[in-house]
Amino acid sequence: MPEFIPLISRHTIQDRVREIGKQITRDYQGKDLIVAGILKGAFIFMADLSRQIDIDHEIDFIGASSYEGTRSTGQIVFTKQPDLEFKHRDILLVEDIVDTGNTLAKIIEFVTLLNPNSVSVCTLIDKHERRKKSIDVKYACFSLEKGFIVGYGLDYEEKYRNKSEIYDLKP
Ligand code: IMP
Ligand code: MG
Repeated sequence: MPEFIPLISRHTIQDRVREIGKQITRDYQGKDLIVAGILKGAFIFMADLSRQIDIDHEIDFIGASSYEGTRSTGQIVFTKQPDLEFKHRDILLVEDIVDTGNTLAKIIEFVTLLNPNSVSVCTLIDKHERRKKSIDVKYACFSLEKGFIVGYGLDYEEKYRNKSEIYDLKP
């Protein structure tokens, strides 16, 4: 049986998401914002974050997948394209966790080709140890040196996304 070690509580998550939402609200005044979540991991964070952004914005999702078990395969597969027109819009990409940076590097490259006005990154967790691609993370709720975590959208082999808190998973 895997062991779940509590890492970030529900309240700590809520407080931090509220703060980041306020920051985004300030930074995007007068902009034409699309909040674009990276599926599937960002779905819960994105639902909370969107409700903390107090300016009109549209929602979209981009599907990308790179993980098998606890190891990144390095191969990124697009599973869903955005529905909205990104041209001349201000795109805020919402990720669950930036690990090697491979996924976001590919997505930023793809989104940039759509000719948006701006592209920025907001992640729930910025995990440093295995970073391979340098990513300009504008908003990070939490910073983590290493480890494999689950809950609040984050999975291990597609499970545990529904947990309300974030846990360190010891396999
Ligand atoms: P990257 O391409 O290596 O940056 O990996 C990004 C993706 O890997 C994330 O969107 C997650 O789906 C997954 N991932 C990376 N680290 C973890 C983790 O600690 N727990 C769960 N998923 C993770
Ligand atoms: Mg995942």
